[in-house]
Amino acid sequence: MHNLIQKYNIPGPRYTSYPTVPYWDEAGISKENWIDTLKKSFKESNTTEGISLYIHLPFCESLCTFCACNKRITKQHGVEVPYIDMVLKEWNMYCDILEDKPNIKEIHLGGGTPTFFSSENLSKLIHGIFKTATKADGFEYSFEGHPNFTTKEQLQTLFNLGFTRNSFGIQDYDPKVQKAIHRIQSFEAVKRVTDDSRAIGYNSVSHDLIFGLPFQNEDSIRETIKKTVALKPDRIAYYSYAHVPWIKGNGQRGFKDTDLPHDNEKRALYELGKQLFFEAGYVEIGMDHFALPTDSMYVAMKNKSLHRNFMGYTSGKTKLMIGLGVSSISDSWYSFAQNEKSIDAYYARLEADELPIIKGHLLTEEDLVVRQHILNIMCNLETSWKNPDMQLQALPEILLHLKEMEADGILDIYENHLVVKEEGRMFIRNICMAFDLKLHENKPETKLFSMTI
Ligand SMILES: C[S@@+](CC[C@H](N)C(=O)[O-])C[C@H]1O[C@@H](n2cnc3c(N)ncnc32)[C@H](O)[C@@H]1O
Ligand code: SF4
Repeated sequence: MHNLIQKYNIPGPRYTSYPTVPYWDEAGISKENWIDTLKKSFKESNTTEGISLYIHLPFCESLCTFCACNKRITKQHGVEVPYIDMVLKEWNMYCDILEDKPNIKEIHLGGGTPTFFSSENLSKLIHGIFKTATKADGFEYSFEGHPNFTTKEQLQTLFNLGFTRNSFGIQDYDPKVQKAIHRIQSFEAVKRVTDDSRAIGYNSVSHDLIFGLPFQNEDSIRETIKKTVALKPDRIAYYSYAHVPWIKGNGQRGFKDTDLPHDNEKRALYELGKQLFFEAGYVEIGMDHFALPTDSMYVAMKNKSLHRNFMGYTSGKTKLMIGLGVSSISDSWYSFAQNEKSIDAYYARLEADELPIIKGHLLTEEDLVVRQHILNIMCNLETSWKNPDMQLQALPEILLHLKEMEADGILDIYENHLVVKEEGRMFIRNICMAFDLKLHENKPETKLFSMTI
């Protein structure tokens, strides 16, 4: 197994989309293409399954130095109202383009720290969205919160607005690790937001942990997980630390690269976590996630209806997801579009009455088939090319990669489908890479992705 870890621990995408953002064909899509595919997707799905909204709320009071998210650090809460006004302006531009009232199945407030915003401003945002939209049957609305910056009032306000799921960043409880990543946060703060969420009526509370952070070792992980499972969150994200200093810079980080656990050491932290989650009654979902069997994510996995998009795994798939806010990505199923990545540029485009899109990709027939194979592997740990609409010209080349993985004991290939073995779960990103024709065509010259393990 150690040899396999060395062999497969290479830079690779996390496949929250296919094609992955660095391989979008930006010249191949115009603003008109994006709007046409958006309208097509909306027509096909709004009245049946409904649509999803992702709203990026980028502000945080304090910088965590491991963080790879798009965020702006400030303690000035005067930024809230202008930002919400711009997001609502963007939303109203979309509503003018779409010919019917959007029927919203999923909303996810991501960040940054959505709970940086006051209860009053969160209400203003959600009321503004629903001035021109309705709630779809079976809607599921969720948000991300920072335990140090989430009050009972905010939890109650969001619940009253229809939010029933939330997730909190924990990362690690060990004081030495917390100091190194510049994120000091107590167990008491996490217990308070978890207990308050339950008392208010939230039906799914999730905790985010990361393995592979500086100074983590088996003892510290054991302690962090012991504290985590004591609070019984419905879901746990156990992320592999994505070390991407070439994108995010080194900031004020209190650690050196040599303080990070590497390869086998890092993988041992994952295996230990997995074992402790199993012992506490959790089930592994796709990649990086664990859930109690009572949670909707587990039910979705059992029904094979789990989906993966830019936010990660979700139990409620819609064909169309509109991303609002700085750096957000929209997905019409036929195309992707990403917003401006700096707040100033995002504001400037909206002030000029333009949709703030900077780049996109129109999916080809081949992209759509590869995307479905990658989704099947990421969500269901299997895929089949039996049906004519799942066949690819490049299958012989793909099979060459897969056969090598079969010989390594990480998957089984049958007549026209493959199944990932339990031992192969940790190499799931590598298995998807076998189908990633864009990656085969253009071997990256610079480092674009984090390591797969
Ligand atoms: C937007 S934050 C969550 C909400 C809030 N800002 C907080 O930190 O509590 C999203 C999550 O992404 C994960 N994350 C951020 N940077 C990461 C990295 N470099 N590698 C792995 N996970 C990361 C963290 O677990 C974090 O909780
Ligand atoms: S981890 Fe959360 S709070 Fe920390 S900088 Fe990133 S988005 Fe902000």
